[in-house]
Amino acid sequence: MDRPVGVFDSGVGGLTVLRELARALPGERFLYLGDTARVPYGTKSRETVTRYSIEIANYLITRHDIKMLVVACNTASSLALPVLRKIYKIPVVGMVDPCVRRAASLPKRERIGVIGTSGTIRSGAYEQALRAAIPAARIDSRPCPLLVALAEEGWIGAPVTSAVIAEYLSPFRQDPPDALILGCTHYPVLKGAIREFLGEATVLIDSGEEAARVVDVLLSESGWKRDGGGPEVAFLVTDDPERFRSVGELFFGAGMDAVEMVSL
Ligand code: DGL
Repeated sequence: MDRPVGVFDSGVGGLTVLRELARALPGERFLYLGDTARVPYGTKSRETVTRYSIEIANYLITRHDIKMLVVACNTASSLALPVLRKIYKIPVVGMVDPCVRRAASLPKRERIGVIGTSGTIRSGAYEQALRAAIPAARIDSRPCPLLVALAEEGWIGAPVTSAVIAEYLSPFRQDPPDALILGCTHYPVLKGAIREFLGEATVLIDSGEEAARVVDVLLSESGWKRDGGGPEVAFLVTDDPERFRSVGELFFGAGMDAVEMVSL
């Protein structure tokens, strides 16, 4: 099926998810929308994030006829997914279930850590899904909001970033979990620093990688896969395409040609 897969996030972070999608599904067309005018979502209420998510989904469905919606933003996935799934007929893929599925498939899964924005952790969405999937697991979730700004600065190996990681994650180093869910779009770019701090014993679960697997299975099973010759990606933003392009490269791992500004 030639229709694009719609992917949205509050801004540049979801490009880590798009990167994994494009890698796993090279025949697809992807349409990415970064809501840069209203970022961040991580500090906002469920009502506001749900309203923003519905506006974006309406736009992508009515204007661009997407065949599937990937909610790349972990905060929007945690707060708005049930409502989006109720409203729309097309499949809606979030970040929570794919990560939880991966945690549940691990041979060692007694203690699971979750890190994310304040909104994601406050929502309890990961905890609830983990309790249902692995009832015996001990779950430890912690908000790590400053990591978003550090990643956008590009301060990947900077001493300040190591210090902030140490401050947030020291409870995990004292008692390493079997897995740590990186429950925020920005954390994959800090994976190396997180790995260095925590050591090798903990499996780091990346939402983009896990979501790409789920999207692949859904498209294959429904017969909706597109057979193109290399991923085609278009970028839309609600503000400041230039900043999106320059900051976004680190998250996407490649250059972005055209970034179009849209009004929802
Ligand atoms: N995209 C958000 C998330 O994954 C992080 C940035 C924000 O707070 O909007 O939760």
